[in-house]
Amino acid sequence: MPKKIAVIGAGAWGTALAAHAARIDHEVMIWGREPDVVRDINERAENRLFLEGVALPKTLRASTVPAEVLASAEIVILVPPSAFLRNVAALVAEHVSKTARIVIASKGIDERTLGLMTDVTAEAMPDHDAASMCALSGPSFAREVAAGLPTDVVVASKSAEAVLEVASALHTPMFRVYTSRDPIGVEVGGAMKNVLAIAAGACDGLGLGLNARAALITRGLSEMARLGIALGGDPLTFMGLSGVGDLILTSTGALSRNRSLGMKVAEGVSAGKYLAEQRTVAEGYLTARAAWRLAQKLGVDVPITEQVYYVLHEDRPLLEAMKLLLTRAQKDELWGLPGTGDGPR
Ligand SMILES: NC(=O)c1ccc[n+]([C@@H]2O[C@H](COP(=O)([O-])OP(=O)(O)OC[C@H]3O[C@@H](n4cnc5c(N)ncnc54)[C@H](O)[C@@H]3O)[C@@H](O)[C@H]2O)c1
Repeated sequence: MPKKIAVIGAGAWGTALAAHAARIDHEVMIWGREPDVVRDINERAENRLFLEGVALPKTLRASTVPAEVLASAEIVILVPPSAFLRNVAALVAEHVSKTARIVIASKGIDERTLGLMTDVTAEAMPDHDAASMCALSGPSFAREVAAGLPTDVVVASKSAEAVLEVASALHTPMFRVYTSRDPIGVEVGGAMKNVLAIAAGACDGLGLGLNARAALITRGLSEMARLGIALGGDPLTFMGLSGVGDLILTSTGALSRNRSLGMKVAEGVSAGKYLAEQRTVAEGYLTARAAWRLAQKLGVDVPITEQVYYVLHEDRPLLEAMKLLLTRAQKDELWGLPGTGDGPR
């Protein structure tokens, strides 16, 4: 049954999700910050600033006015870059019906509180039931979703009712929506893969080879799982779409901004300078710092994230970071994972 859906954030991902929902006959309105983007969507059925060249459904409407976008919305999808989620959620909170399902599609870790995106949203929307908030994640380049190519994602929430309602509303053969009751695991995967993709891009940029990249992705998966488990996530979630699935996509796909950032760093370009020239976000840059702090707070070993943090934010030379990773002590492969003990087996 068609629903009224509000998408908050008209970057590439918000636009792609809104286009998908509008194509399957939901009544969709998208909130954009930039008047030019809103005008473009309404008048040309295109978002030239963030998703140039993709034809959007003419039924998709856009506005810069939160009250207009959110009026009687049954599902609200929040999708600004993670650094702006708190402000954006607070901006729209008073216009969202208490019974609306809240879905967060932003990926990151809050720099101030070190909380996940559902935690940030729950704080910014105190009138909404925190336990029924949903996280949407998985291997999904916006451009491919907008083009209607087959994509699988996962929607996770502690509330079975919420997750089923949201997943059923968005699921189609070309946009398969799996369900999960582990929002922590799903969110940690979505945040950490961006950091690990920077490392994978740097690895490729340095020409270290495909063996090295596969090793980096796999060891990255281990540290993603260690951090997620320490926060209470289910170890098996990291085998899923939001874990290994998104990690593979972001670490190997040419459309990945985080991977591109890593490749630029390998060329000797300053990350800060490169990002300042981009209109779009590479979430892994800020997430590296938040994830490193979170891991230190929890006492979790995240060696790749640690090196990404030091290279991006503390000017550690990339070759020194690489050497530090390669000269770590030999250990059991499953070290630090549940049931394996902490030392060599
Ligand atoms: N692009 C993708 O393929 C993709 C896929 C899955 C998830 N995501 C996630 O979706 C989220 C949004 O990414 P995106 O790719 O759509 O963004 P984007 O880089 O395409 O666009 C940037 C967005 O930032 C917004 N913005 C800039 N300054 C702002 C401010 N001060 N306050 C609020 N908003 C501001 C802009 O309005 C725009 O919507 C991120 O967390 C990202 O990790 C992206």
